[in-house]
Amino acid sequence: MKKKTERIYRTIGVFTTAAIVFSGCGTGQSRKEQDGKNLKIGISVYDQYDTFVSELVSNFQDYAKTREKDWGISITMDVENANKSQMIQNDQMDDFIKDGMDVVCINLVDRTDASTIIEKAQASDVPVIFFNRELVQEDLERWDKLYYVGADAFESGELQGDILVEKCKKDFNRIDKNGDGVLQYIMLEGEAGHNDSMVRTMSVINEITGSGYLVEKLSDEIANWNRDQAANKMKQFLERFGNRIEVVLANNDDMALGAVDALEAAGYDPDSQDWPMVLGIDGTTVGLNAVNDGKMLGTVLNDAAGQADGMLELARSITAGTKLPEEYELQDGKYIRMPYRIVTQENLGEIQMLLMKK
Ligand code: BGC
Repeated sequence: MKKKTERIYRTIGVFTTAAIVFSGCGTGQSRKEQDGKNLKIGISVYDQYDTFVSELVSNFQDYAKTREKDWGISITMDVENANKSQMIQNDQMDDFIKDGMDVVCINLVDRTDASTIIEKAQASDVPVIFFNRELVQEDLERWDKLYYVGADAFESGELQGDILVEKCKKDFNRIDKNGDGVLQYIMLEGEAGHNDSMVRTMSVINEITGSGYLVEKLSDEIANWNRDQAANKMKQFLERFGNRIEVVLANNDDMALGAVDALEAAGYDPDSQDWPMVLGIDGTTVGLNAVNDGKMLGTVLNDAAGQADGMLELARSITAGTKLPEEYELQDGKYIRMPYRIVTQENLGEIQMLLMKK
């Protein structure tokens, strides 16, 4: 029996499912009996309230509608929320298998605990595409029908660093509020043990110092990718360090926006010299708006649309044996990694045009 919360997408319609065909679901029809005219995909996300992940799944659903026409098939999708519980997600895997899904897309709750899902998949011969929360390589190598779609976390940290470095080259005195030649910064980290979080935190600093700038970490805190948690942490940082904060480096846009919320609540004005440089990663709709408004210096586009499309193309390719489009290179027969891109006020228009076309 599925718990109410797990079915939340369909009940409250966080993601539109209107044009997605659900008719094949739960009828007991096995994958072996299908005629290639219906592709059944089960998706489980670690937390439906995660802004980036929900944008990705929403893109996936939009692409599925288009591809139904392009490919002349119906695509049945069942999107489930694991509600931050690996146990719930493991149970959802059982349901996907029972419901005869052709392929399952998993946004792992615990990236170090993929074993149960892998064993269930292998025992029932159901391929799995993991996405966004990268599992350890040894796990992905345990079976040839396991894949990962995401991006290269190092690149995102480096590009975030590059945004700040470019600004420093043009306007160091504006950033260095106390004029000591050192960048005093705050780090807002995503999640303990999350690959993107660990790697971004390290690579952004390496990029800045490697470019010749001196930094001083005032403090860092984990805010679990979450805007409210980040706002709380930033409130405390402001109480402790006040105007000494020159740079806020956040592992994602939601946390950068939490910092913006706290700055505004404390009476800081984005147009004044006191406003620190705030940098995020993702390029979510709200993140891009904050870049446009000058509240964030920049962000790094984590290509949700490309990852969603790549995942759908891969699902089709695995199940129907079709060739992957050229833009999706399957590295080592297992990985699709979409490139990141810098976004600042200078190229915002271009990026927004690009996203509209996708
Ligand atoms: C994104 C975050 C998101 C996290 C969830 C990261 O790649 O940048 O915004 O919260 O994935 O796993």
